[in-house]
Amino acid sequence: MIEKGAEIKETEGRLGVLIPGIGAVGTTLMAGVEMIRKGYSKPYGSLTQMGTIRLGKRTENNTPMIKEFLPLAGLDDIVFGGWDIYEDNAYEAALTAGVLNKEDINKVRPFLESIEPMKAVFDKKYVKNLDGPNKKTGANKIGLAEQLMEDMAEFKNKKSLDRMVVVWCGSTEIYMEYHPVWDTIESFEQGLKTNHEAISSSMIYAYAAIKSGIPYVNGAPHMCNDIPALIELANINDVAIAGKDFKTGQTLMKTVIAPGLKSRMLGVKGWFSTNILGNRDGLVLDEPLSFRSKEVTKASALEWIFQPDKYPELYGDLYHKIRINYYPPIGDNKEAWDNIDIFGWLGYPMQIKIDFQCRDSILAAPVALDLALLIDLAQRAGMKGIQEWLSFYFKSPMHAPELYPEHDIFIQLMKLKNTLRYLKGEELITHLGLEYYD
Ligand SMILES: NC(=O)c1ccc[n+]([C@@H]2O[C@H](COP(=O)([O-])OP(=O)(O)OC[C@H]3O[C@@H](n4cnc5c(N)ncnc54)[C@H](O)[C@@H]3O)[C@@H](O)[C@H]2O)c1
Repeated sequence: MIEKGAEIKETEGRLGVLIPGIGAVGTTLMAGVEMIRKGYSKPYGSLTQMGTIRLGKRTENNTPMIKEFLPLAGLDDIVFGGWDIYEDNAYEAALTAGVLNKEDINKVRPFLESIEPMKAVFDKKYVKNLDGPNKKTGANKIGLAEQLMEDMAEFKNKKSLDRMVVVWCGSTEIYMEYHPVWDTIESFEQGLKTNHEAISSSMIYAYAAIKSGIPYVNGAPHMCNDIPALIELANINDVAIAGKDFKTGQTLMKTVIAPGLKSRMLGVKGWFSTNILGNRDGLVLDEPLSFRSKEVTKASALEWIFQPDKYPELYGDLYHKIRINYYPPIGDNKEAWDNIDIFGWLGYPMQIKIDFQCRDSILAAPVALDLALLIDLAQRAGMKGIQEWLSFYFKSPMHAPELYPEHDIFIQLMKLKNTLRYLKGEELITHLGLEYYD
């Protein structure tokens, strides 16, 4: 464990944010950061840019902005790069994604046009509904990992960067069952050499980043840097890692509402969640094996929040069902309906209906930005391995094997802010407050 108030390496120079998958989330992040830098908009939805943190007692009235309290990289220091299987630059990709309107995209056109995707490591075996021409070829998996490491080193050099982070914004890969090749660094490296099929494309990116000493964040629901071999590699190489699956939309709402119901000991009999979305992510998730990856991360949140083993009378019979349907006409403007059957005093039933007409990538972009900045901070503070304090941002947070994951968003936020206080040597806030009445 790092020491309270341990030294955090200063932010000198520029931070490279490398993104495998220059699609809807990736381009919305890139265009958004540039629009904010140019003063066209504000970083709505970003805790690092708009949030505050209380220090000391409530009477002290000391609540700085998070970005002023901590030595975070500034938006002006960020340099974007990335990989994709399509040759489109970020301007063309943003137009295809259709999240932002053309007028906004055009405001930052030259900037987006300057971001050309590097050739991707991609195998259709892991993302069945997609294929594209911009791929690395002719090498086994260890060779592909080496090519990615060269890309990373070259990018750092070319852009004169001080440091980098990798944030996976690529498509959801298929669901994979545990395989012993994931167990140790040795078995994994052997698997890379023999082209083992339990090693997906995204795992090759994660390996290349961690091996190069670069923090890696997984924004998608598939297995990746959460396998034992890559966690071990991160610990040995002193690299911070986090995941998985950006918490946006429906799961964000679930982790807001479920803790509230539980805090009042209200029972829940059923929670039916259905979504329609028409972007490329929706197309990929239309394929059953990719959907399975998503279903697993989306399903676990309620189970962990309600703790049916501890509250069997309230949540023991909960029927939880999730559906995602691909519906092209609405593009990235997802609609998510929830029907929640709850019961209260004397078992009397009640219902909550939610119709969230959200914009997936508008919710995801600030999450990706915060994660890039906070994992860079963690790395500079000397934190290595799983960064559980970043659970706040994930549908299925990575955690130590002996722990259960914390899904309650309010506990996650408290944990995140207390970690920031701890890093700066400030007192943690317990919210006890009895001392005000002495
Ligand atoms: N939008 C959200 O709110 C949200 C929330 C949580 C998680 N996610 C996850 O984030 C990821 C990106 O979502 P999106 O809406 O931007 O999807 P998208 O389809 O618009 O973009 C993904 C991009 O990744 C590229 N890609 C796929 N495999 C690749 C590889 N091996 N190397 C390089 N590029 C690759 C695709 O060509 C595509 O351009 C998905 O996994 C999605 O499940 C999104």
